[in-house]
Amino acid sequence: SGVITIDPGFKNTGSTQSAITFLDGEKGILRYRGYSIEELAEKSTFLEVSYLLIYGELPTPDQYQEFTKTITNHTLVHEDIKKILEGFPSTAHPMGVLSSLVCAQTAFYPASLDPNRAAPEVDMSIIRLLAKMPTFAAWSFKNQIGHPVNYPDNSLDYCSNFLKMMFATPAEAYEVDPVVANALDKLLILHADHEQNCSTSTVRMVGSSHASLYASISGGINALWGPLHGGANQAVIEMLENIKKDGGDTKKWMAKAKDKNDPFRLMGFGHRVYKNFDPRARIIKKAADDVLAKLGVNDPILEIAKGLEEEALNDSYFVERKLYPNVDFYSGIIYRALGIPTDMFTVMFAMGRLPGWIAQWKEMRENKEPIGRPRQVYTGYNERAYAPIDKR
Ligand code: CMC
Repeated sequence: SGVITIDPGFKNTGSTQSAITFLDGEKGILRYRGYSIEELAEKSTFLEVSYLLIYGELPTPDQYQEFTKTITNHTLVHEDIKKILEGFPSTAHPMGVLSSLVCAQTAFYPASLDPNRAAPEVDMSIIRLLAKMPTFAAWSFKNQIGHPVNYPDNSLDYCSNFLKMMFATPAEAYEVDPVVANALDKLLILHADHEQNCSTSTVRMVGSSHASLYASISGGINALWGPLHGGANQAVIEMLENIKKDGGDTKKWMAKAKDKNDPFRLMGFGHRVYKNFDPRARIIKKAADDVLAKLGVNDPILEIAKGLEEEALNDSYFVERKLYPNVDFYSGIIYRALGIPTDMFTVMFAMGRLPGWIAQWKEMRENKEPIGRPRQVYTGYNERAYAPIDKR
């Protein structure tokens, strides 16, 4: 009732109260449940962070063991999932395949559709999602390249199992490199939650109609896909490759990004909430240096990225608008060094963001939030008479 205020993009509108993630965009602070992202990235594991986000506290040793064991025991997916997968042409983008397979879970676990289901049933959906997401992700890649899928290996940890499903072939033995597995684990931690961003708000919005957790997460994956959100990590590498092909002329591309008649934006720069720096980008930049050195990879694109960052940080256009490198600017460079193909980058982001989406969905339901239903200000025609088709 009363006056409706319009706030396109919800730049100044809060949608909820939340106790999960604290973010101070001016100071560049990010904390999950009170723990700093820097400390978690250094000391924790992705599954421990998942537990923390979803259940609110760090697990005890027993809780952690039980949680990881249960997840490991559910990594296998229903055999009929392969039939759905095989229906996708090799041209399918893995993000579309991923959201479809996640939504297809509603068919295999119809109890998840009951909005009044008991907490243990919700917990099972949570476990199944965390367990099966790497399987879906790796399988979407195998389908794309036309290779047989690899079944999960329950003797391995979360990231090693994913890497083996991605890269092992029947033709040769595959050993997971612990440097690669650890780097991936760290990247997943850095992506695990980011309060009310576009995909998370989507998950909460879909869930607010009491749609199932699977359906809500599937919606979140689709929201993440766009190049202004998670799709930026793929777009960054494509941009850096184009700059390289163009002879490394970063000045020319900077000019393009500043030209208001050119739709091009410097991908991996700018953020809705970070106006000084993105703390995740700092950690990732350092990790990129470490990982490339450890793996002995010399990627000319890293030099282009550093040059571009340097120029942007000293350019009045970027300084005035407070545009800094975001989480996606350097993450693609690490994924590339780990051997992950470019159009799987956003899938990696989705794997990382999953516990955040789950935690936010759970909080929304536990707080009994009402259905999300924004208002509008109508700008169309007043009432007019219908003209029959032969009179138009
Ligand atoms: N390159 C050039 N100009 C930019 C850029 C950029 N990357 N980002 C913002 N601007 C300009 C924009 O044109 C506008 O200028 P003006 O005031 O002259 O019209 C001003 O900066 C403010 O931009 P905005 O679009 O109003 O800001 P927003 O908060 O709506 O958008 C953003 C935030 C992240 C969508 C945007 O900065 C962007 O498009 N960045 C490139 C894509 C990207 O890297 N996305 C990943 C974000 S972080 C991870 C994630 O969310 O998934």
